[in-house]
Amino acid sequence: MVHLVQSRVKAYFLDKEGSHDWFHIKRVLELSREIQAIEGGNKELVELCALLHDVSDHKYNGGDYELGGAVARKWIIDAGGSNELANQVSLIVPKISYKGANVEDQELSIEGQIVRDADRLDAIGAIGIARAFAYGGSKNRPLFNPDIKPIMHDSKEAYLNAKTHTVNHFYEKLLKIKDRIETPSGKKIAKQRHEFMLSFLEQFYSEWNIRASYDD
Ligand code: ADP
Ligand code: NI
Repeated sequence: MVHLVQSRVKAYFLDKEGSHDWFHIKRVLELSREIQAIEGGNKELVELCALLHDVSDHKYNGGDYELGGAVARKWIIDAGGSNELANQVSLIVPKISYKGANVEDQELSIEGQIVRDADRLDAIGAIGIARAFAYGGSKNRPLFNPDIKPIMHDSKEAYLNAKTHTVNHFYEKLLKIKDRIETPSGKKIAKQRHEFMLSFLEQFYSEWNIRASYDD
């Protein structure tokens, strides 16, 4: 059943833009499996949440945060999965996404925590940097503008509708991630990836010829 879902997810993401393509889903799936092997939880539930966490992403579906859960539910039923499993996944999927610096994360079971950690870990480090600029590029955003400062968003709507340059995304999300990772194995991975982003920013500012404009 997981395999059937995987084939459908793979086909769906194949032509998507580099920050949210099949390889992102595959990395999240593999990292989720690694973390699950250490932290425990229901493996099948973890795999399905990882595979389905970005189907009907609100960033691409016109801002609907709930649709992802319903689509995930349907795809599991279509693949012959149980109602119970489909319901569990549909409750986890909408809670995975980051919704703003000042918006608290919703509570999740261990399976949800694992996938949320894996998804966030793929948004930081070298791959995270590449994804951020790919996403910014797809939205026609500038790399950087020293005159436009970051904003700590208080609501998911404000966060979703913000149109800023990509360096601000580091302050609005990426540098916050290490403190929002929940599993011990995830925290270890986050530490090194966080340091790498800080050195990237330092180098970026030095090439731009300005002093670091804001502190982490
Ligand atoms: P989430 O659902 O938490 O946003 P995703 O798996 O959909 O997580 O991935 C978000 C990806 O999109 C990250 O790599 C992130 O850097 C990128 N992204 C989202 N918003 C922006 C933005 N405003 N500027 C640059 N990158 C962004
Ligand atoms: Ni994702």
